[in-house]
Amino acid sequence: MPLVLLAVLLLLTACGGGADLPQSTLVPRSDFSADLFGLYKNVFWWALGVFILVEGLLLVAIVRFRARPGRAEPKPVHGHTVLEISWTLAPALILVFIAVPTMRTIFSTAGHAPEGALRVEVIGHQWWWEYRYPTLNISAYNELHIPVRTPIQLDMTSADVIHSFWVPRLGGKRDLIQGRTNRIAFRADSTGEYWGQCAEFCGASHANMRLRVFVQSDSVFQRWVDQQRASPATPAKGSPAEAGQQVYRRSPCIACHTIAGLSQGRVGPDLTHVGSRFTIAGALFPNNAEILHRWIMNAPAMKPGALMTPQSLSPQDLDALIAYLQSLK
Ligand code: CUA
Repeated sequence: MPLVLLAVLLLLTACGGGADLPQSTLVPRSDFSADLFGLYKNVFWWALGVFILVEGLLLVAIVRFRARPGRAEPKPVHGHTVLEISWTLAPALILVFIAVPTMRTIFSTAGHAPEGALRVEVIGHQWWWEYRYPTLNISAYNELHIPVRTPIQLDMTSADVIHSFWVPRLGGKRDLIQGRTNRIAFRADSTGEYWGQCAEFCGASHANMRLRVFVQSDSVFQRWVDQQRASPATPAKGSPAEAGQQVYRRSPCIACHTIAGLSQGRVGPDLTHVGSRFTIAGALFPNNAEILHRWIMNAPAMKPGALMTPQSLSPQDLDALIAYLQSLK
């Protein structure tokens, strides 16, 4: 018994909120997630009250009314009107106290952003995320950048199967379905990096379909927008990046990827600003030379089902290509 209690205690303390829990719903950082957390707490306290009452009565009954030698048979009670009414009414009232806030939360999180919200189109792909900012005329991949304390409207759809967008600290899950648009609206209340995850099984690399949201101050967000709007610098003559650009031009990469001015593939993410991203491959790996090396040589080994076929490049060409990709800020 003490062991069981210890296990329960460990389990409960493991659920405490903290900065080291990047995907905890218990550390809300937006109006949407705060609404959900409030509802969760409401239901939790009602459930705890019911649990204590029921288990308490059970224990009292076990101890007080247990069979003892010499004790007379207890008198059965039949048809106690006051008891009947109260144990019908009390649960009904508790359900009302849970249902009303639940309905209120359903409506408040239905996805209608106020006028002037920043609109982002989210498109789910097997297995990466595309974000289009129609009013800013830019796109992002896997990493969503948004300004803090600004209402955000996500219009979400899928390019293939059903996915589900979920950033626990910013809001609830919502499905992305081909041919229709589902919406999420929220307002992040503090800057930071928030982790998310596709939450609908979508094939071999469902579990590898991660995402990040960068909530930024207005000035940092504006700098990012300006960077994404500008074309990346042309590689200097004779630099490794310039050699890499030549490798890119004659590689099969151009069939599937876009780099502004060079190629227009639509199968994989746009690489025009790939050097400015923190992660690659569905926000699964850090964007560094070592990872890019392994990724280009054998993507499916790192992310099962990845469409990018293993490339055969000489070590020099590979280094040059990576230098070029990293220069695309
Ligand atoms: Cu996309 Cu699971």
